[in-house]
Amino acid sequence: TTIYLKDYAPFGFVVDSVHLVFDLAPNATRVHSRIAFRPNPEAKDRTFFLHGETLKLIEARIDGAPVTPDVTDAGLTCTVPDAPFTWEAEVEIDPANNTALEGLYMSNGMYCTQCEAEGFRKITYYPDRPDVMSVFTVTINGPHPVLLSNGNPVRSGEHSATWHDPWPKPAYLFALVAGDLVALSDSFTTCSGKDVALNLYVRPGDEGKCAFGMEALKKSMRWDEEVYGREYDLDVFNIVAVDDFNMGAMENKGLNVFNSSAVLASPETATDTNFERIEAIIAHEYFHNWTGNRITCRDWFQLCLKEGLTVYRDSQFTSDMRSAPVKRITDVIDLRARQFPEDQGPLAHPVRPESFQEINNFYTATVYEKGAEVIGMLKRLVGDAAYAEALDLYFARHDGQACTIEDWLKVFEDVTGRDLTQFARWYAQAGTPRLSVTEDWADGKYALTFTQTTPPSAATPDPQPLVIPIDVGLLNANGDEVRATETLEMTEATQSFTFEGLAAKPVPSILRGFSAPVVLIREMTSADRAFLLAHDTDPFNRWEAGRALARATLTGMATRGTTPDADYLDGMLAVLRDDTLDPAYRALMLAQPGQSELAAAIFETGVTPDPDAIWQAGETLKQALAQHAQDVLPRILADCRIDGTYRPDPNQTGKRALGGAALALLTRLDGGAQAAAQFAEADNMTLQLSALSCLLSAQKGEAEVAAFYDQWKDDRLVIDKWFGLQVVQAAPDRAVGVAHALTEHPDFNWKNPNRFRATMGALSMNHAGFHAADGSGYALLADWLIRLDPVNPQTTARMCSAFQTWRRYDSGRQALIKAQLDRIMATPDLSRDTSEMITRIQGAT
Ligand code: ARG
Ligand code: ZN
Repeated sequence: TTIYLKDYAPFGFVVDSVHLVFDLAPNATRVHSRIAFRPNPEAKDRTFFLHGETLKLIEARIDGAPVTPDVTDAGLTCTVPDAPFTWEAEVEIDPANNTALEGLYMSNGMYCTQCEAEGFRKITYYPDRPDVMSVFTVTINGPHPVLLSNGNPVRSGEHSATWHDPWPKPAYLFALVAGDLVALSDSFTTCSGKDVALNLYVRPGDEGKCAFGMEALKKSMRWDEEVYGREYDLDVFNIVAVDDFNMGAMENKGLNVFNSSAVLASPETATDTNFERIEAIIAHEYFHNWTGNRITCRDWFQLCLKEGLTVYRDSQFTSDMRSAPVKRITDVIDLRARQFPEDQGPLAHPVRPESFQEINNFYTATVYEKGAEVIGMLKRLVGDAAYAEALDLYFARHDGQACTIEDWLKVFEDVTGRDLTQFARWYAQAGTPRLSVTEDWADGKYALTFTQTTPPSAATPDPQPLVIPIDVGLLNANGDEVRATETLEMTEATQSFTFEGLAAKPVPSILRGFSAPVVLIREMTSADRAFLLAHDTDPFNRWEAGRALARATLTGMATRGTTPDADYLDGMLAVLRDDTLDPAYRALMLAQPGQSELAAAIFETGVTPDPDAIWQAGETLKQALAQHAQDVLPRILADCRIDGTYRPDPNQTGKRALGGAALALLTRLDGGAQAAAQFAEADNMTLQLSALSCLLSAQKGEAEVAAFYDQWKDDRLVIDKWFGLQVVQAAPDRAVGVAHALTEHPDFNWKNPNRFRATMGALSMNHAGFHAADGSGYALLADWLIRLDPVNPQTTARMCSAFQTWRRYDSGRQALIKAQLDRIMATPDLSRDTSEMITRIQGAT
């Protein structure tokens, strides 16, 4: 069944309080609930329906008297008084056999929960919808040293603990954790002088991997006070690391639960990239306390209200803690790699979808990342001061409420007096806009004319013009900036902007800072791009010019057999040599666009992409750049060497990234000698893994792969990297074989989402390997999706998106993919999650 935004109606009852008692047992946990309901004066429909799935109802009472509700596999209905009443129920659940990792489940002997979006209904009967908010008191009985729930601890005895959360919240923010855990503890004094106890709970043995996460938490708490005026609101803040988790982390009130890969780190076992990601996710979950928890969503169609805003806030935090240009470039790389394919294929949906079958399928790059881009555009249009005022009004007006995108936009309208009706289309329309531009120069006047078109999609058959903020700066022929960045506000389908008072025809720098999530189409020669690569004063667009050069030469090489472009090679050499540039920025410049991104760019020009030719072009270009830069590479590598203590800070991280890029090129010249040496000497995971990656990508490193396993076989997070890297770096003709062999490795615990993704997700990321012309990549992935679906529908459904780009490819590959999609669809008892995804990917035919 499909759920529609337009059908929203409030629940017929208000919940004044919730009391829960858990008697924990692996196969038969008892959950007792006592819930105070009263009729909701705002609602017309008084049907008393409580969600409930996979529950065994032992007994139910209303005001103390036993009742017999009508129970289905989705929930129950019951006749209730037309006045306030107390509902009590006793249910039994089986956490040990909950492999879907939704509701209450077990991971390595510990109990934990994941309730967003609709998991609470697997714990007890309840109106499991985000607009029903209440105050929870929770008692946990169990033989575990650590018993945790939301809010503040009110009582803790032998094998029992009670928690009270004073802030009304929807059930999706409920959490419970019980186990034999140890904590790293610290404290934080808030801006108003309140002391907050901080704990990071982990399994014994992981204590040494907590320090960085704790520091990130304290920085996040301070930053939210300083930048958004948001103070923490409980006496404790707990974080728990869990090995079996479908997503990155979850912002349960006062009790965040993290995938261990998103919080545990030490220099020996985690890379710089892992540290950066952990810092960002800790911040993200913490920031949800205000954007998500204190102000939550009315219904799941409004998911971007909390996710887009919280992603936007965590990106601001990272920009403040680290390099803002590097963060912006990394985010745009990610947006193009994950959101653009979604928005340009059969899974395209608006930032605020209008219908769904399974909400878990809409925790997407579009809702999260495009949702954050929309907020960035809004801030650019209204300015920083108005943005700050609007956010203050949002918190003041809506604290304690479950809100909509309309509420969000209204605070901006009230603060600025703007009409945001047209801007709101960004929330309602699917598809990536194409923005093309032409220039005119006459009589001292310079004009830029833009045309926007959004390709129609199943979700948005008739797209209308959007409000697009286009940041533009102008340079002269010497590369000096003659006009500083200005935001052009485009509202029409076609629109011109004129610049006067210029001495000569300028060189424009368009869409600075990637001011809107669009595809910019502009006729440019490689000399034009080389000029911007050398001179653009906007760091994003300077990087973008290099990226465009790389894309153009790789496209030519892969489709027309051209040779590497001299402007690209010279431009990159100049970047490498320019010691005034941040090493992290130089490393980003040197990276090639992903093969899937190139396939999209080729498809866009009307040519069918050939995955093998794209892979070969990348190899040839790496070899050519290595030779072109051979004189400077040894010096770069030496300059990037760090003596002294490892720190995952921006300075050291940037140096290691540039050193890694130099080593990758050197490995193409020296047969792998320097990479092997770095692997042998490395005393941190960043250097060790980058050396291994260089070797594998040059088809070497067999001995190092074995040595790495021996060294790290007891560390599950490092072994995930070992699985992933071998598959990602395998040459196209070996990738499927490598992935298949790894599925037969004794450590391939396929029910663990991290390990499954490290193997099968890696296969789908090896573009030419996955798209092997014989279809073996498609078949292997489909085999495993079919096997995982009954065990863990959520993770299965997510990974179906590997097939979303299928219509880009030749008819042979399309037929092979179609056969696998049909085979998955034909699987008996396929989950709602996976069947919705496959049906959408298949599209209307
Ligand atoms: N709200 C979480 C976050 O963004 C994501 C949890 C999503 N979980 C899910 N099963 N869909 O941090
Ligand atoms: Zn989030």
